[in-house]
Amino acid sequence: TNPSLLILPGDGIGQEVMAEVRKVIDWIGAKRGATFDVSEDLVGGAAYDKHGVPLADETMAKAQEVDAVLLGAVGGPAYDDLDFSVKPERGLLRLRKEMDLFANLRPAQCFDALADFSSLKKDLVSGLDIMIVRELTSGVYFGEPRGISEVDGQRVGVNTQRYTEAEIERGARAAFELAMKRDKKLCSMEKANVMESGILWRDVVTEVSKDYPEVELSHMYADNGAMQLVRAPKQFDVIYTDNLFGDILSDCAAMLTGSLGMLPSASLGAPMENGRPKAMYEPVHGSAPDIMGQGKANPCACILSFAMALRYSFDMGEEATRLETAVEKVLADGVRTGDLLNEEGVKPVSTSEMGDAVIAALDAS
Ligand code: NAI
Ligand code: MG
Repeated sequence: TNPSLLILPGDGIGQEVMAEVRKVIDWIGAKRGATFDVSEDLVGGAAYDKHGVPLADETMAKAQEVDAVLLGAVGGPAYDDLDFSVKPERGLLRLRKEMDLFANLRPAQCFDALADFSSLKKDLVSGLDIMIVRELTSGVYFGEPRGISEVDGQRVGVNTQRYTEAEIERGARAAFELAMKRDKKLCSMEKANVMESGILWRDVVTEVSKDYPEVELSHMYADNGAMQLVRAPKQFDVIYTDNLFGDILSDCAAMLTGSLGMLPSASLGAPMENGRPKAMYEPVHGSAPDIMGQGKANPCACILSFAMALRYSFDMGEEATRLETAVEKVLADGVRTGDLLNEEGVKPVSTSEMGDAVIAALDAS
């Protein structure tokens, strides 16, 4: 049977960039003989408009069955005043929660043609290729007790950083597995100097490392990690860290490489019966209401998210590399959407022209 893919374009530019991914999927089917069973459904505001909820139960059920979910983006000004329980983001959160996607993969890869867009000097980022694995389902964003209460006549806000061994371990295994497929180097980041959860984190990761003797493990305090990411990012390959530190460190790493329009991500869960991990792939960017409907969106983040799906869900690493190389070639040729231009007078290409250029590069590969 063909591998199955559920496409959820969502809102705003999510729909525009997904149309370009469709071209890539069709190309792989026609030229490489790899056919996917593709279904498409609604999420976010689009689902709210039709069903009154940001993710219908039937859509959730479908997401549980397929080999991978590819999501565009959700949200937009039209939905900003909705009740919290039906906000577009809730659709996304429900998918992550019910699929139990505990490992969030955020690559930070510098395409040489875009090195000028980095916040850092070119030689610091040229050739950069790191992967941050962020624990996504636990930690301080979920720990109990939490809340704002009145203590001694003033309000007190409380959150709890809480991790079980099992939670740290399953994320660590995902990170070590990745390291094995990459440069066999893993840096774990926590704050074991001041946090109990950090002490446990370091302990569990060290324990898991015994199953991966080929991977060189190091530990770093997360604040130092932030410094090192901007000082000398190429020292890292895979970084494994918790939900809160990972949120911040991955946004920081993202800006080492330039535009939001280029950043893919994956969220992986436990292996299914067929051995593939539960998985959802999505660009890091949102629905970009300021440019929606104008053909200005850069489809590369979504196309590169699909490349991650090829590699991590469909065991098609070679096709993934082919696609990434095609994107790199297009950029090197100077084809740019507006977000990748800073010179006056250079004409940006449209979303669909960018997609067509990627297809042309695939044809030439
Ligand atoms: P955003 O990522 O949508 O946009 C930030 C800026 O980057 C905008 O100026 C936008 O035009 C630009 N941009 C983003 N993606 C681009 C692309 N592919 N090509 C060219 N330019 C691009 O973040 P913002 O403006 O904070 O949020 C807008 C809406 O998206 C909100 O409703 C927010 O809740 C939602 N959102 C959804 C996310 C998701 O679905 N995962 C993530 C972040 C925000
Ligand atoms: Mg963030």
